[in-house]
Formats: sequence, C-alpha cells, structure tokens
Amino acid sequence: MEASAILLFCSFLSANLTISTAVDTLNATQLLKDANPESPLNGSSAILKLTKQGILILQIHNGSTIWRSNTSRPPGNPSATLLDSGNLVVKDENESNDPENFLWQSFDYPCDTLLEGTKLGRNLVTGLDRCLSSWKTPDDPSPGNFTYRLDISGFPEFVLRDSSVIRFRPGPWNGIRFSGTPELKPNKFFTVSVVINEKEVYGTYVLHDSSVLSRMVLTHDGLWERQTWTDGTQSWRVFVTVQMDPCDSYAQCGAYGSCNATDLKCGCLKGFVPKSQNVRDTDNRSYGYVRRTPLKCKSDGFLKYSNVKLPDSRRSWFNYSMNLDECKNLCARNCSCTAYSNLDIRNGGSECMLWFVDLIDIQQFSANGQDLYVRMVASELELETFVPKSSFSAKDQKEGLELPSFDLAETVLATDNFSLKNKLGQGGVLKDGREIAVKRSGGGLDEFKNEVIHIAKLQHRNLVKLLGYETQIKLLDWPTRYNIINGIARGLLYLHQDSRQRIIHRDLKAGNVLLDDEMNPKISDFGLARSFGEKETEANTNKVVGTYGYMAPEYAIDGLYSIKSDVFSYGVLVLEIITGKHNRGFCHPDHHLNLLGHAWRLFGEGKSMELVASTIRGTCIPS
Ligand SMILES: *[C@@H]1O[C@H](CO)[C@@H](O)[C@H](O)[C@H]1NC(C)=O
Ligand SMILES: *[C@@H]1O[C@H](CO)[C@@H](O)[C@H](O)[C@H]1NC(C)=O
Ligand SMILES: *[C@@H]1O[C@H](CO)[C@@H](O)[C@H](O)[C@H]1NC(C)=O
Ligand SMILES: *[C@@H]1O[C@H](CO)[C@@H](O)[C@H](O)[C@H]1NC(C)=O
Ligand SMILES: *[C@@H]1O[C@H](CO)[C@@H](O)[C@H](O)[C@H]1NC(C)=O
Ligand SMILES: *[C@@H]1O[C@H](CO)[C@@H](O)[C@H](O)[C@H]1NC(C)=O
Ligand SMILES: *[C@@H]1O[C@H](CO)[C@@H](O)[C@H](O)[C@H]1NC(C)=O
Ligand SMILES: *[C@@H]1O[C@H](CO)[C@@H](O)[C@H](O)[C@H]1NC(C)=O
Ligand SMILES: *[C@@H]1O[C@H](CO)[C@@H](O)[C@H](O)[C@H]1NC(C)=O
Ligand SMILES: *[C@@H]1O[C@H](CO)[C@@H](O)[C@H](O)[C@H]1NC(C)=O
Ligand SMILES: *[C@@H]1O[C@H](CO)[C@@H](O)[C@H](O)[C@H]1NC(C)=O
Repeated sequence: MEASAILLFCSFLSANLTISTAVDTLNATQLLKDANPESPLNGSSAILKLTKQGILILQIHNGSTIWRSNTSRPPGNPSATLLDSGNLVVKDENESNDPENFLWQSFDYPCDTLLEGTKLGRNLVTGLDRCLSSWKTPDDPSPGNFTYRLDISGFPEFVLRDSSVIRFRPGPWNGIRFSGTPELKPNKFFTVSVVINEKEVYGTYVLHDSSVLSRMVLTHDGLWERQTWTDGTQSWRVFVTVQMDPCDSYAQCGAYGSCNATDLKCGCLKGFVPKSQNVRDTDNRSYGYVRRTPLKCKSDGFLKYSNVKLPDSRRSWFNYSMNLDECKNLCARNCSCTAYSNLDIRNGGSECMLWFVDLIDIQQFSANGQDLYVRMVASELELETFVPKSSFSAKDQKEGLELPSFDLAETVLATDNFSLKNKLGQGGVLKDGREIAVKRSGGGLDEFKNEVIHIAKLQHRNLVKLLGYETQIKLLDWPTRYNIINGIARGLLYLHQDSRQRIIHRDLKAGNVLLDDEMNPKISDFGLARSFGEKETEANTNKVVGTYGYMAPEYAIDGLYSIKSDVFSYGVLVLEIITGKHNRGFCHPDHHLNLLGHAWRLFGEGKSMELVASTIRGTCIPS
C-alpha cells in the first residue's frame, strides 16, 4: 500500500507520512503531518486537517494555509478516507463509498499518475477537467512543462503538450483502441476504455490481475508510460512507453505527410508534393506537402487510405448516427471538407467524422489502422484521358467539360508514339510517374468526345478508373463471379440513379466490363452513353447502336431505350457470368434457342441449376 499511498498524495503530499493514528480515515478532529510538492515545505512541521465544512487544509508551522481542497456541498459529519484504490475521499462519515457521495476526491486531481479507475478527462456538467502534469525533474514533484489533457474542441482527443507545443496524440478512440496505437490489443492485464456521453468524456482503465500493481505515468521528460510494481527491486518498472518511435512525434511529416511506421520515413499522401524543396533545412513543423493539383470542389472525389492513424481531429466535426455513405455525401457537398472516416471501427464501421483543415499527424501502419478517405481532385483519381487540345471546342468547354488536357508531345511521349503496347490493358507511365491507361478511340470524333465527357463526370469504384484486363470468366470461382455481378450492379445503379446526371450506358456487355488486379469489375466504354435529366427516363433514337445479344428487344426493334435497356443487358451479362457461355453463338444439341431462351426453358422446367457452369456448380450457393 505504501506505493499507492505515494501516488495518491502526489497531488498535495510527498512521502514519509506520519498519521497520528494508524488508520485510513481522518475526521475533523485529527491531523496528518508533513510535506507538499507544489510549494515544498521546509522541515517536518506541516499538518493536514479536515475542517467541519469538509475541507482539507494543509498548514505550516506558523498556521498559514498553503493548500486547501474544496467541496461541492456542506457535509454532516465529514471524514477523509484513503481507499484501497489509492483514492483519498472526503465524504459524510456514515455514507457509503459510492462516488456520488464524495464531497471531494484526490482522483479528480491525478497529478502525473493515472491509477486504475481514475477518469482522465472532462465532467461536462461541472466543467471539471482532470488532466495530468509531469514532475519538474525525477525528484522534484512540482509541476513540470508536460501536460496530458483531453481536448474536446473537435472529436474528443488526448493531447500531450510541452508547455503549449503539442508533442504527441494517441489519436481518436475508435471503439477498440486509440487510432494511433495499433499495438494496444486486448490483453489479460488491463482494458483501456473511453467513455463519451452528454455528462462526461474520459479515458480510464481497469486491471484484470489484482496481483499486478500497475499505473500510467507522465514522466518528467514527457513520456506517457505504463509502469508495473516489482516486489524484488521495490520499484516501478516501465512496462510500455506509448510513444514508441519517431513517427509518434506530433506532425513529424508535416501537413498531408504520412509517417511510415515500418521504416520510420516521411512520405506524402498521393497527389501531394513537398511544399519546400529544402525540406531538411526547414523546421519540421513548417514543412509538409501541398496538392499537385488544386481541388475543384464539386467534381472532387475521395481516395481511400487503409491502416492509418487518423489525422489531428481537434478541429473535426462528428455525428454518431451517420453511416459512411452519408458521411461521404456530407463531405463531398462542403468544399472545405478535406477528409472523412468512420469513428467506430467495430462491426464493419459506423459513425462519421469530417475534417475541415489540413490533415496533420497521419501514420501509415502495416495493420490495425483505420480507413481514411481524403478529398482529391477528380483528375488525380480518374482515368487520365489524353486529348489533343484542338479536338474540343469552346462549346465543349462550356458544356462543363473540365478535363486535364495533354498536349500531343506529352501524349506521344507517354504512349511511346501511340504504340500498341500501351493501348488499353497495358498502360504507360507519365513524366511525373503517374501510371496511366490509354484508350485508342476507333470510332469517330463525336463518339470519342461523348465518351470523354461521360467518363470525366463519373466517379465510382465500379466505373472505370484504372483499366484492367478483360475477363477470363472460365477461370473464376463463384465468390469472384458473385463479386463481379454485384460490382456491375452497383456501377449501374450509380449511373442510373446516384450520379448527378442519369446515364444510360446502352452498350453493357462482357467486353466492356474490365477487371482490376483484385478482380473488381469496372464498367467501361461510354462511347454510346446518353445523359438524361433527373425526371426523364426514356427516349427514342433513329440510330440503334449497341451490341447484338445484349440489346433489349424494344430497343433493337423500335429504337426505344431507357434504363431498362441497360437492365436487360445486365441480365444477359449475369446469365453469361453464371453459365460461362456467350448469349450469341450459344448452341445446344436439343434446341435452337439462344442462351436466354435456354435459361427460360430450364427455369420453366424447374431445372435452373443446370444452367450453372459445371466448374462452379459445386461451390455456388443455389439460392
Ligand atoms: C475522530 O476519530 C477519533 C479516533 O477514532 C475519535 O476518538 C473521535 O471521537 C472522532 N471525532 C469525531 C468528531 O468523530
Ligand atoms: C527552509 O529553511 C531553511 C533554514 O531552516 C532556510 O534557509 C530556507 O530558506 C527555507 N526555505 C524555504 C523555501 O522556506
Ligand atoms: C508563515 O510563514 C511563511 C513562510 O514560511 C510566510 O510566507 C508567511 O507570511 C507566514 N505567515 C504568518 C501568518 O506568519
Ligand atoms: C470552490 O467551489 C466553489 C463552487 O463549487 C467555487 O465557487 C469556488 O471558487 C471554489 N473555491 C476554490 C478555492 O476552488
Ligand atoms: C448521515 O448522518 C446524518 C447526520 O449526521 C444524517 O442526516 C443522514 O441521514 C445520515 N445518512 C445516512 C446514509 O445514514
Ligand atoms: C519549461 O519551459 C521553460 C520555458 O520554455 C524552460 O525555461 C524550462 O527550462 C522548462 N522546464 C523544464 C523542467 O524543462
Ligand atoms: C512502409 O515501409 C515499408 C518498409 O520499407 C514498405 O514495405 C512499405 O511499402 C511502406 N509503406 C508505404 C505506404 O509506403
Ligand atoms: C524533424 O526534426 C527532428 C529534430 O529537429 C529531426 O530529428 C527529424 O529527423 C526531423 N524529421 C524529418 C522527417 O525531417
Ligand atoms: C446527425 O445525423 C443524423 C442522421 O443523418 C441527423 O438526423 C442529425 O441531425 C445529425 N446531427 C447533427 C448534429 O448534425
Ligand atoms: C462547410 O463546413 C464548414 C465547417 O463546418 C462551415 O463553416 C461551412 O459553413 C460549411 N459550408 C457549407 C457550404 O455548408
Ligand atoms: C510517330 O509515328 C508517326 C507515324 O508512324 C511518325 O510519322 C512520327 O515521326 C513518329 N513520331 C515520333 C516522335 O517518333
């Protein structure tokens, strides 16, 4: 108990206590003798006493008070008790040890030490701010320059400061751990938790093994440590220091920088370039990265980073009832929103956090980090489309065609003079190192312009951004095929319903679904696409274009098309993916039906499962 007694009295006493009677309770007629850290006492002539009003008073030899506690309400018969937890509490003598009854408790003034059960943070009702401050030196307990405090200006976040300069932040709490402490895993010794409600915001921990004495300490040199008591040496031993490496130094890599926790090197987020060329000559804090291409606001998209420590959230905005999609929409709508993420990562993620400032203090972990979605100008995200400038008239520009255009010389260089090896599926590399995919347009200029205009306006993970290779459907297992089917559906839903302009693709077919290296489908080829106003849903055309086998009958015959035409094509595609056979050119020994007729017939006979490709029949889920 000696050990915890030292801790407890840290807020007003130091070691070598002599209590007038050998008990753990002090009443209003008793005294406790000796020292104090904040204004160190001279000699051993000081006394601690409890007044009838329930106020603890520390007096020196001549009777002047050098420290006093406070109380929230007048007590009946006050007493001060040192609980086994290390908490010194003042309460009515006949009251139980329920914190509700405490008139004052030393746990509200934790000094440099967080004991089990101490709440570090705010009581939003009383305004009480429980924070830690370091000792000045290892043997001078008066307050040093380091503080560890909960900042509630944005999403609540702990911040370690050296005077006013931020040195470290563990990152926002994500339901499991602090975002910047991937090593904090569930363990058998202790559980850390953060409580956020209308009345209180605080961090705390419980110990699971009562035989192990453990505490968290803000050391005189600004380290945030867990220490355990070693009986053998009768001393505290460092169990873990929360700041593990240089990446944990606040803003180590500057704005939009990301510190790689594996090799401890600074890097920048994609699409950013160093602010200053002589980064080594400048102070870390002023250095950082800036966007290569400024944001455009309305057409911007988001780039996902996985396994990161979320940036400084002191000036963030959050909402507990929004999901990730709502979060994204909100961020997309506000031009000053720079990033968004889930707050709680449990159960696949929930809740929403938005940033409106430069992103600072990001770390890249190899595991156990969080997903962060950073706002990027569309051109950094999308397929780079190489268009000799002259092909687009002023009219096209007025129609909202905001494209990065490239001059012929650069295009020639990037594509090795339009070499076939750089065409769709192979790609090339731009001067600045960006990898690109190139499409050589076979159609006329109108069709080409049409495609460019549509592709530039669309942003969706299941619409082409990076062109991959064409599908080799026969080799794919059922989960992959299912994922492809879903992805196409999502891409189509976006075109039909969720994009700013309703778009009918008109040429959805296997050849226009490209797969990236993770087998995610990307709908491509917007050469025949048509835009619609929000209320329009169908139209007529004299020139029927598309691909046989995928065209809906009313379109092929009457030129009538609507989003339903795409749905028809989608249905054909789904059947092709399931069967591994093409609709056109399908032949069956028993009849002359095409794939659709065959499917319909089997369905009528209740034998739909026969349709499924034999290679996946064993692994797919019939329902
Ligand atoms: C304080 O405690 C002492 C020792 O237990 C006892 O003798 C005394 O009566 C108590 N005084 C009051 C006011 O309770
Ligand atoms: C403590 O007492 C000594 C002598 O008793 C004196 O020299 C010293 O100045 C005192 N210090 C303080 C802080 O009062
Ligand atoms: C008591 O002593 C302290 C310093 O030891 C001094 O600052 C204070 O004025 C003294 N108070 C009285 C009432 O003498
Ligand atoms: C004690 O608390 C009261 C109200 O809670 C407050 O007005 C007063 O300033 C406090 N006194 C001290 C010395 O902290
Ligand atoms: C505690 O004692 C006071 C009188 O000193 C009395 O008013 C109060 O009801 C008592 N509380 C309990 C819980 O017994
Ligand atoms: C605290 O900060 C002040 C001002 O920066 C400095 O003079 C002092 O040495 C620092 N104290 C410690 C214990 O480092
Ligand atoms: C971080 O560093 C490791 C080791 O050098 C490297 O393998 C990894 O790709 C780096 N991560 C990023 C995002 O650069
Ligand atoms: C930041 O500054 C510290 C000390 O000034 C230095 O040790 C560290 O290497 C710097 N970091 C980078 C990424 O330049
Ligand atoms: C949080 O989001 C929900 C659901 O979108 C909304 O109803 C609520 O008003 C939002 N709260 C704030 C403070 O914006
Ligand atoms: C964008 O968000 C900022 C910060 O919350 C707010 O001040 C501003 O009014 C918002 N702008 C719009 C257009 O909603
Ligand atoms: C590119 O190819 C064209 C036609 O083959 C040729 O005339 C031209 O000189 C080539 N340009 C370069 C830079 O190689």
